[in-house]
Amino acid sequence: MTRILSGIRPSGKLHLGNYLGAIKNWIELQDRQDIDLAVFMIADYHGITTPFDPKKYSEQILETACEFLAAGLDYKKVLLIRQSQIPQHTELAWIFSSITPETFFRRLPTFTEKIKEVIEKKVGVLPEDFDINKTKYLQGYFQDIPDISLGLLAYPALMAADILIYKANLVPVGQDQLPHIYLTNEIVKRFNSKFGETFGVVKEYIAEGAKIMSLQNPKQKMSKSADEGIALNDSPSEIKEKIKKAVTDSGKEIIYEPQKKPAISNLITLYKIFSRKSLEEIKNQYEGKTYIQFKDDLAEIIIEFLKPFQKRYSEFKSDSEEVKKILEISEGIARNEAKKTLHEIKQKIGLL
Ligand code: TYM
Repeated sequence: MTRILSGIRPSGKLHLGNYLGAIKNWIELQDRQDIDLAVFMIADYHGITTPFDPKKYSEQILETACEFLAAGLDYKKVLLIRQSQIPQHTELAWIFSSITPETFFRRLPTFTEKIKEVIEKKVGVLPEDFDINKTKYLQGYFQDIPDISLGLLAYPALMAADILIYKANLVPVGQDQLPHIYLTNEIVKRFNSKFGETFGVVKEYIAEGAKIMSLQNPKQKMSKSADEGIALNDSPSEIKEKIKKAVTDSGKEIIYEPQKKPAISNLITLYKIFSRKSLEEIKNQYEGKTYIQFKDDLAEIIIEFLKPFQKRYSEFKSDSEEVKKILEISEGIARNEAKKTLHEIKQKIGLL
């Protein structure tokens, strides 16, 4: 039987990358017949590992729930939960962090990239040979950078716990999360060999759109922290403006060549997914046409696609009491599942 878990940090408005890399697949999976349990989570404890505003945070969490529902997640088929409401996730994360070498965490690209980003904000662009694992860089930079917390380092242990507390075996995510799934399987192996067979292998579920790039820099992924992403709640004029300003490659041709033409290829990926046309059809349609024509059409396609989402979002947003109730019902069921797993684990490791 298949058990699914995935999550998103409520760290800002969801963007097209989050939609295509994660939520779109969650919605497709929720109708599969072999699904025994599907849990979709607002990763609010992960969200506090980087700077956040406590005055706005609870509102952001609720808005993310409205985004989940507006995108089409059906709370009658799946569980929609706030991570912090199920304390067993963090309890299990502590257990996992106690059986995993610290160096495993330090090497993860998500951690090293975050550190690089934070340091660069402070001191400017870092040298080419910058390697966070070399102590000469750690000294001098680390001590006065409060944004790099122990929580940020330990973040993947919590992610492994999110997955394994429900004994999930399928995790629909974007490509950037793959190293965390590999680490989760490392934890599975260690736990099973120390304490007896408990967890099975966890598989990722990756689909087209698993790595949507930034519209300003096609070498970087579209992200919540940078403002160039297209948010699911952007107005038509914001979308038009962002696509108009999106960088393009040299040359004029509208062809899909990710290596040579990463910027236009990223836009074609968006066009392809939202229009459901093939690369061949797109190529023929835009033969001899300009980037401007292509971009105008792409903006229209995205605007049209997002219209029903935005309408449903404002309906849920104006009924936040109902949304809270939906979460609480799911959380009650999830807590019972999580308690069962934690009880078994505590027995196995001699805590009970
Ligand atoms: P987060 O909040 O950074 O991203 C949420 C989901 O969106 C995907 N994603 C993208 N996909 C394609 N292109 C992009 N540009 C893009 N940017 C983001 C991410 O891959 C992810 O699937 N640690 C996780 C949240 C989490 C989680 C979990 C996920 C916590 N516990 C357990 C799975 C299972 C995170 O910070 O995702």
